[in-house]
Amino acid sequence: MSKPLVLLTHPLPKTWITALEGKVHLEVGEEGFAGFSPKLEPYLPKATGILSLLTAKIDESLLSRAPQLRVVSNMAVGVDNVDVAACTQRGIPLGHTPNVLTDATADLTMAILLSAARRLPESAQDAKEGRWGTWSPTGWLGADLRGAQLGIVGMGKIGQAVAERARGFGIRLAYSNPAKIESDAVHLSLEELLRTSDFVSLHCPLNESTRGLIGEFELKMMKKTAILVNAARGPVVECDALLHALKEGWIAYAALDVTDPEPLPASSPLYSLKNCLIVPHIGSATHGARRRMAEIACENLLAGLAGEKLPHCYNPEVYA
Ligand code: GLV
Repeated sequence: MSKPLVLLTHPLPKTWITALEGKVHLEVGEEGFAGFSPKLEPYLPKATGILSLLTAKIDESLLSRAPQLRVVSNMAVGVDNVDVAACTQRGIPLGHTPNVLTDATADLTMAILLSAARRLPESAQDAKEGRWGTWSPTGWLGADLRGAQLGIVGMGKIGQAVAERARGFGIRLAYSNPAKIESDAVHLSLEELLRTSDFVSLHCPLNESTRGLIGEFELKMMKKTAILVNAARGPVVECDALLHALKEGWIAYAALDVTDPEPLPASSPLYSLKNCLIVPHIGSATHGARRRMAEIACENLLAGLAGEKLPHCYNPEVYA
């Protein structure tokens, strides 16, 4: 019997996908291509599985060109690149990779929060470029952490892992979430959280209710000294409003792991601001996390091809 045809939207290290060896026929998209590689298009009619990265858009139109598809396995915890409803309607289970990137993403969140609070990019640049005079009592002053309030928007696994880390710094915790959870953090409405927090960190999924969640109105209600961290998805924050907020001092600083669009073009005015730190969507970029994400994506894929329940299924209602 011939092996099932699987489309891997972007190349992955061989050692991360050994589980697929000998079990599937793989067609692989182009390295560095932001989207679904046209090279894979001719294989869609016969494809039984897709292993996608978050940069590949898997929409209704693509699904309609792949009538034999039995599973979509996304190598990410977020699935906003996939039309979930269209998958479900077609009875296609959608796999994702929760848990294994929680620590890496929470670590990165704290790294950019601390970098922004203590003005690391700016002070490092000043040192490198000869602007480090003598030790200055008032030079590069940053924000205090102990006693400050961190407001976490989206208290899921990653939000809770950020809270766990922040406790170690003596930070007071607040969160806003559709559902109240068991936590020592104070549950606030989004508005109360924005008004009272010294740091605001976003960890909600991107969906129709969170797209543009932080716009001009919300940025203007934040403290002028506040630092905004986005390690969720770029479109949760309105990019133009953020630019104004940083230029005009509605808030003090933004630390962004995600932007809208991605990649953020080098011509973006956000790069020229001293009070904006941007890193290229590296929340889960540790050796261990990325390998486990790929391994889980393979496990989901193989289960879907075998007609078994995916170990990490985003749309379990397909089995109802
Ligand atoms: C990364 O952003 C992910 O969703 O896994």
